[in-house]
Amino acid sequence: MSRAEEVEDDERQRQRKLEEALEIKSLRRIISAYINYPEAAEEDVRRYERSFRKLSPAHKALLSHYPLKFERLRRCISVNSYFIFNMLQAFEPPLDMSEDIDICEDSHHKDGPNNQSVSGGQDGCCQSTTTSRVTCCPKSDQDYNMEGSNMTCKSLEGATSNKELDSDGCCGSHDESHPQGFPYTKEMDKSGGNTANDCNGNVSSSPHGWFDLPFQLNVPLVDVDKVRCIVRNIVRDWAAEGKKERDQCYKPILEELDSLFPNRSKERTPACLVPGAGLGRLALEISCLGFMSQGNEFSYYMMICSSFILNNTQIAGEWTIYPWIHSNCNSLSDSDQLRPISIPDIHPASAGITEGFSMCGGDFVEVYSDPSQVGVWDAVVTCFFIDTAHNIVEYIEIISKVLKDGGVWINLGPLLYHFADIYGQEDDMSIELSLEDVKKVALHYGFQFEKERTIETTYTTNPRSMMQNRYFAAFWTMRKNSSAAEKHIAQ
Ligand SMILES: C[S@@+](CC[C@H](N)C(=O)[O-])C[C@H]1O[C@@H](n2cnc3c(N)ncnc32)[C@H](O)[C@@H]1O
Repeated sequence: MSRAEEVEDDERQRQRKLEEALEIKSLRRIISAYINYPEAAEEDVRRYERSFRKLSPAHKALLSHYPLKFERLRRCISVNSYFIFNMLQAFEPPLDMSEDIDICEDSHHKDGPNNQSVSGGQDGCCQSTTTSRVTCCPKSDQDYNMEGSNMTCKSLEGATSNKELDSDGCCGSHDESHPQGFPYTKEMDKSGGNTANDCNGNVSSSPHGWFDLPFQLNVPLVDVDKVRCIVRNIVRDWAAEGKKERDQCYKPILEELDSLFPNRSKERTPACLVPGAGLGRLALEISCLGFMSQGNEFSYYMMICSSFILNNTQIAGEWTIYPWIHSNCNSLSDSDQLRPISIPDIHPASAGITEGFSMCGGDFVEVYSDPSQVGVWDAVVTCFFIDTAHNIVEYIEIISKVLKDGGVWINLGPLLYHFADIYGQEDDMSIELSLEDVKKVALHYGFQFEKERTIETTYTTNPRSMMQNRYFAAFWTMRKNSSAAEKHIAQ
């Protein structure tokens, strides 16, 4: 190796180490947010109680059921925590979380949306890290499922057998009644420590080992919100109550795929990519329809949860959560707000998936702009995804590149650009095209319109709320015409 090559190699190593350290930091932050869920929720209840105490005796008397409501809220929080802790317990971090990280962050790596994502890496599937637990994207039939850049997920086939959990429920310092950084609830006191109870009084230990690690104590509100957002997303994807929303969003896509690939079979299985797959239900449904389906997702919040539901579910309705307790607004009644939801509504492992189903962790742009992805997919399905782009033109270009000649792009969603309101650093970027311009760009990359209509839908909305935000989402099918695409891409 020449001196120049050595220097280059060193630089690459340094860069990789830095990226890995940032990813560990980001993952710690996300796990902290999950671990602090009960404490953050308890703080809300304390706030409600403080307000209640300020009432005059006469007003208090009118609301004499409130103390009971607070207790009920606490029980709901405890049940939600039980689910979350079980989910964390099943999570095997793809990185060595005990590693000391010493990062000189540059301006790109402040806490922000990018810093809370699976960073992807070039191939998104086989990025090597220091931990041997990271496995690669499916190459064989046996280890086909749920592998991503830096995500370690398990095979859906192994769903019923995989229970290698550390059962000691060990925690960090026990010198006080509640370990540092561990959220306190009354339920925990009753059960003697770091536990959460489900509605049947089952007790879950705190996620094993997590308290040995330097997790953050003061979780930023934005992170707390993300955990609550995940809980609402679970209803969208994995509860009977989310069916109406899934019928609005996922059903038209599934029907379109069904009619566009009428001759699919075991021998001729079309490949479908679902970028921004969220909690994985759409990708799973596409798999069950007879496609080799791959979801792509870059948020660890999402991946930890989808991996748990896809790989660890034993039976339908295994868990109970209370997704609507975090808002007192627009409730018709307390019982609406405090109603339990059973999840998941199906047992994923017996839903009838097609071989090749996988979830690939990583940034869509990084993972799928790899040359190995060119012309690989028969269909790309984007649902509430394209507006997550910093640069939507780049998304469209990549979608065109990864499609085979004659492949289809099915999209459903609004244009609520995620980075539109970020007034951050100078180098932040958000390209916010109108629908008309999105279509113009698509034509440039060789897409031809086959169908287009508007679909009215909600997104993670509480069906019993007095407020129902509706989107008039664009739904289209476009087909890639290779000669047109090549002409444009060469330009
Ligand atoms: C609005 S949600 C939609 C999720 C799902 N498709 C649905 O309809 O419920 C957008 C999803 O895209 C993911 N996402 C955003 N930017 C991404 C990127 N660059 N690469 C991969 N996933 C991304 C987010 O983490 C989020 O889960």
